Amino acid sequence: MTEPRKLFIKTYGCQMNVYDSERMAEAMGASGYVTTDTPESADMILLNTCHIREKAAEKVYSELGRLKPLKDLNPELKIGIAGCVAQAEGAEIMRRAPVVDLVVGPQTYHRLPAMEAAVRAGERPVDTEFPSEDKFEHLPKGPRAGRGVAAFLTVQEGCDKFCAFCVVPYTRGAEVSRPAERILREARDLVARGVREITLLGQNVNGYHGEGMDGRDWSLARLVRELAEIEDLWRIRYTTSHPNDMTDDLIAAHGEVDKLMPYLHLPVQSGSDKILKAMNRKHTAAHYLAVLERLRDVRPDLAVSGDFIVGFPGEDDADFEATLDLVRAVGYHSAFSFKYSARPGTPAAERPVLPDVILNARLHRLQAVITQQQRMVQESMVGRDVTVLFEKAARMPGQMVGKSDYLHAVHVTDDALAPGMLRRVRITESMTNSLNGVLL
Ligand code: 5AD
Ligand code: SF4
Repeated sequence: MTEPRKLFIKTYGCQMNVYDSERMAEAMGASGYVTTDTPESADMILLNTCHIREKAAEKVYSELGRLKPLKDLNPELKIGIAGCVAQAEGAEIMRRAPVVDLVVGPQTYHRLPAMEAAVRAGERPVDTEFPSEDKFEHLPKGPRAGRGVAAFLTVQEGCDKFCAFCVVPYTRGAEVSRPAERILREARDLVARGVREITLLGQNVNGYHGEGMDGRDWSLARLVRELAEIEDLWRIRYTTSHPNDMTDDLIAAHGEVDKLMPYLHLPVQSGSDKILKAMNRKHTAAHYLAVLERLRDVRPDLAVSGDFIVGFPGEDDADFEATLDLVRAVGYHSAFSFKYSARPGTPAAERPVLPDVILNARLHRLQAVITQQQRMVQESMVGRDVTVLFEKAARMPGQMVGKSDYLHAVHVTDDALAPGMLRRVRITESMTNSLNGVLL
């Protein structure tokens, strides 16, 4: 018997890429590949790339430089570029990087096995189509590989919002929602494999409007209510959302569906109405705050996280101060902040950029405010009792780590614990990026 070929996948960027990488591994598994943890042992390396900021995109070329010597050691090794850089710059990658054997975009990776065969026959295929067929329907069916207690599930892809800074509408294409029935089937398969927590993924997930089982369009709230009926599914989350799609029924679901966790990632990007307008966000800072207020009316303990961009073209000191004010007003559990990065092909890329010293200074100030806020929120958890879904062994002997309802990482040392257990925990200590606790 010949040894199976080995596949190494390196994933960059968002959670949807993490999900896609798993599905790529399954697709290649059907043609005899097993996954491996080291590029040195691989016969095929896939880089699943991110194009969201310039820094993310540049990583591809530096990684290819590092991988090149492996090809000299193993002439059988093939290298593929997948994901959003593949979508945006496929032809250029092929020109610039002769080590690359194939390029596959986010909508066509179900064709990977055929592309791999073409590569072995001496071709260098590029496939960055937005095909009419649904990739999910052409991926291996049946229960997905056992992957622990928490899993991602893509329900919606692409974006029609066209924020002026963002490449997503170009790399992931127009908004498409998967039919509810297929999502429910995939969720049941995951649960049959031991998954207890599912995070529904979409670039604009609360804009979900897939075909329902009654032939009508279902909202995300409707989908969540249906998923909540799956008995051994204990927790549901979703990400990423847009403030304008926080509909009445979704807000109501946060108050009514116990399995819907009290955590929401709701990016706002800026606290200045002038900048929000220039970003084509189509909402004001006041609207964003009003949405959060309505959510907190039905779910007072809701933990909120967000994304911010500093130094968007035209942002002056007052605009930036407005962002700091908004952060102080919200009280984020966590927030991500980025320096504006001009992306080719987006409307904002034509506008004059601010000096890097200003971007650096603003990023630094914003992150200081966010870090302080995060720390205060975390420290306020000490002495409180939370529910933790334990996922895996942690670094210390006998220690397990899991997530609270609010997505805090919680460490507990107790022999009675195993992955997949849902337990009440009293928080005893706040560490830099996690909490410690004891079983109740
Ligand atoms: N520059 C900087 N940050 C960006 N993001 C998206 N596009 C850009 C860009 N061109 C950030 C936004 C988004 C997160 C995923 O990445 O904050 O919410
Ligand atoms: Fe990056 Fe956006 Fe692609 Fe995710 S969808 S990998 S964030 S460019």
